[in-house]
Amino acid sequence: MIESPFQYGTLATKDNFIDRVSERASLKQMLFSGINVSLISPRRWGKSSLVKMAMDELISERKDVRVCYMDAFSIDSVEDFYSKFASAVVSCSSSRIEKAWGDAKKYLGGIIPGLSVSDGLNDIITINFRHDPLKENQAQILDLPEKIASDKGIRIIVCIDEFQQLAEMDGYAELEGKMRSAWQYHKNVSYCFYGSKKHMMMQIFNDSQKPFYRFSETMFLGKIAQGDWVPFIVGGFKKTGKSISEEFAVKICEHTECHSWYLQQLSYFVWSDTGKEVTDAIMNRAYRRIIDTNAPMFMNDVEKLTASQREMLKAIIAGETQLSSAGARERYRLGNLTTITRNKKVLEAKAYVDSNDGALEVSDPIFRAWFKEKYMV
Ligand SMILES: Nc1ncnc2c1ncn2[C@@H]1O[C@H](COP(=O)(O)OP(=O)(O)OP(=O)(O)O)[C@@H](O)[C@H]1O
Ligand SMILES: [Mg+2]
Repeated sequence: MIESPFQYGTLATKDNFIDRVSERASLKQMLFSGINVSLISPRRWGKSSLVKMAMDELISERKDVRVCYMDAFSIDSVEDFYSKFASAVVSCSSSRIEKAWGDAKKYLGGIIPGLSVSDGLNDIITINFRHDPLKENQAQILDLPEKIASDKGIRIIVCIDEFQQLAEMDGYAELEGKMRSAWQYHKNVSYCFYGSKKHMMMQIFNDSQKPFYRFSETMFLGKIAQGDWVPFIVGGFKKTGKSISEEFAVKICEHTECHSWYLQQLSYFVWSDTGKEVTDAIMNRAYRRIIDTNAPMFMNDVEKLTASQREMLKAIIAGETQLSSAGARERYRLGNLTTITRNKKVLEAKAYVDSNDGALEVSDPIFRAWFKEKYMV
């Protein structure tokens, strides 16, 4: 059994992580300098991997930096946010679990009634509140990283993945205002927010009416270039005693449009089906397999759309640019203008489509291929 050189479903680390040289450098530089960052890209292009990689490098270069990670997908209420935030901050800023215990009591004992602290897996402690933190205590919890950082003479970087999910919670608007008013004074803490729903992230960070307006530097993560992927693919085959021609490696890039996850997935399918050398038949089978593997998930998503939303996807994929024109409305049964406006919003909010300079496109290459086969032949 040889380990696959291609991996997906986990963060790309070390040998499996390629490129992103300038993005890593600027993330490190900004966050270390106290500039907050909001990092946006469509799903699975590599945000989480990039942040982890850049922060690991920074920690190894600077002994006075600590990094806390939170995933907003796992947070379901404002109360839950406060307890996970406190847990993450206390855990990451203490070198050992016993110390974290002490710190939790020292920093939170006075402000949280009914505080209980428990050991978790992987040296993370969990702080539970029996009650909603009182109003005045909420501000103290939000100030926790600054307090700990200045006490200990360290710099703390708080990374919140899929930040836009918080906006779906009840009570978010109030929390948002509180976060902003506390965090804007933090001198020893920087915040890195990343998310895959561009539309929602932009509403949070780029709307002048909203608290987080101009709080952070927005960074749009692009794709890794074909010129970087091709040697990675060729090299991955080579080091495991197999071979792939440059042409087939390019083909993998083209099929997946250099989408990080799909590229690794398709490379894996090709690699695992190959004895010695990649052939046309192997390539075709692998491409079939990547569509089939993802189909149930696509189906599940598309079933939740209305008929006119599905029609709109057809129109966009077919390259229709004037969705509101009489011709397009009739050809695709898009409905009236109100429906069209609403559906555009829904499809964007659900991240089926991206708008680039006003032009709508379906950016997921495998979804697009599947959708065409299923609905457009
Ligand atoms: N720099 C990289 N080098 C090689 N492969 C990468 C890189 N970044 C991402 N990948 C591949 O893409 C996959 C998705 O990456 P990651 O989970 O970091 O993306 P994401 O944008 O955080 O995704 P999500 O939207 O699901 O949160 C990884 O499992 C890995 O296979
Ligand atoms: Mg991620």
